[in-house]
Amino acid sequence: MKISIVGTGYVGLVTGICLAELGHNVLCIDSDKNKISQLKKGISPIIEKGINLALKKTISSNNISFSNELSLACNFSDVIFIAVGTPTKSDSNDADLSILNHVLSEIKNYANRTKVIVIKSTVPIGTNDHLSKLYPKESSNLVFISNPEFLREGNALFDARNPDRIVIGGVDENSIKKVKSIYRRFKNKKIIVTDPTSSELIKYASNAFLASKISFVNEIASIALKVNASISDITYGMGLDPRIGNLFLKPGPGYGGSCFPKDVKAIDFFAKEKNLHLPIISNIEVSNLIIKKKILERIKMVLGKKSKVKNKIITIFGVSFKPDTDDVRESASVFLIKNLTKLGLRIKLYDPILSDTNQIPFKNSEWYSSAYDAVLKSQLLIIMNDSREFLNLKLKNIASSMQRKRIMDLRNLFNVDDLSQAGFEEVYNLDKDIVT
Ligand code: UDX
Repeated sequence: MKISIVGTGYVGLVTGICLAELGHNVLCIDSDKNKISQLKKGISPIIEKGINLALKKTISSNNISFSNELSLACNFSDVIFIAVGTPTKSDSNDADLSILNHVLSEIKNYANRTKVIVIKSTVPIGTNDHLSKLYPKESSNLVFISNPEFLREGNALFDARNPDRIVIGGVDENSIKKVKSIYRRFKNKKIIVTDPTSSELIKYASNAFLASKISFVNEIASIALKVNASISDITYGMGLDPRIGNLFLKPGPGYGGSCFPKDVKAIDFFAKEKNLHLPIISNIEVSNLIIKKKILERIKMVLGKKSKVKNKIITIFGVSFKPDTDDVRESASVFLIKNLTKLGLRIKLYDPILSDTNQIPFKNSEWYSSAYDAVLKSQLLIIMNDSREFLNLKLKNIASSMQRKRIMDLRNLFNVDDLSQAGFEEVYNLDKDIVT
């Protein structure tokens, strides 16, 4: 089938490649000229495992093409996926739909016959219903289908190729059938057809649930730290209960990224707008912020008096919000960097993905392309994301280069005994403070 996709961010581009791999003929559209010219050359604007190869393959099989012209979306296909950004508004926790609205107002002008508009972007609850009223089929030729995306950054291609469920929310039977047929070549697919609002809510409920699961575990880790219990043993013990499950039970310095923070804010905003008092939902973000603040306080305590830390060097490993991505949006590392540099500390940064080319400037911070250079003369090493690359580092060399042999492992990535044997004199992790 011919399919147009508007928006070539994580969701749009990965969906486009995946649908092209399924044998569909896909046209990806984006207003960013630079992005499109790169994509035409087979260069992905995002970092994702296997994406450049998949892009090149689908381009050479002529199953995918790229353009800046939104007007071509309607000429090319009767099914148009919308995967544009819906960030949090700057003045409230509501989602900003201005890009989506602009795209639809343009598409409407070119819709000379029925066009199925598949909304992949995460949109506030009720948006599809609202759009169906705003653009009635009879006058606009537009029919709306909600089809939320559940892929994770860093694993986006794998997730898109192996969806654990495909949610299709709509009213118009023909359009539902059409969208279902797009996905029919997926093996082991579980397709759920529902009304548009339930479909939208499946997405928000999933992200809010996962974010609260992480926050819950982070709170249990706070208890573990207080009583010197092992959070790894606790989560292992919890995860053996199939009703709880062992996934998304890893504690850390607070969730980040583009989806959880934004979607948790949006569902909370929606509930408050509807005068619903929902204490769990309204406290997920609060809990996440408290975890980040507690970690900041713990670091300050380890470093000692404020007057003593001025111009001292500390090191952060892992700046992106999780491994295998260059995305620093809402990363707990960014929160720490901003707050610690305010104390006058100098921070050396190392991240396996963020290299010399895409270094992001932070005040009083320097980027290093070698982990070993980043710890020279450092007073404290903080491990912020769970990149497997950190496990291959020679810990002895790391410890011996540091001025104070102190490490704070905020992902419990390392074995505490290994750290002590490598020469670290102070080891702090999620459930232990060990000072020898
Ligand atoms: C998330 C959802 O997983 C995905 O389904 C949705 O479509 C988009 O949002 P993503 O933001 O890419 O995906 O990352 P994810 O792997 O879910 O991690 C989000 C945050 O939670 C990261 O900061 C990560 O470090 C943290 N996390 C995750 C934990 O702290 N512990 C865990 O056990 C899992």
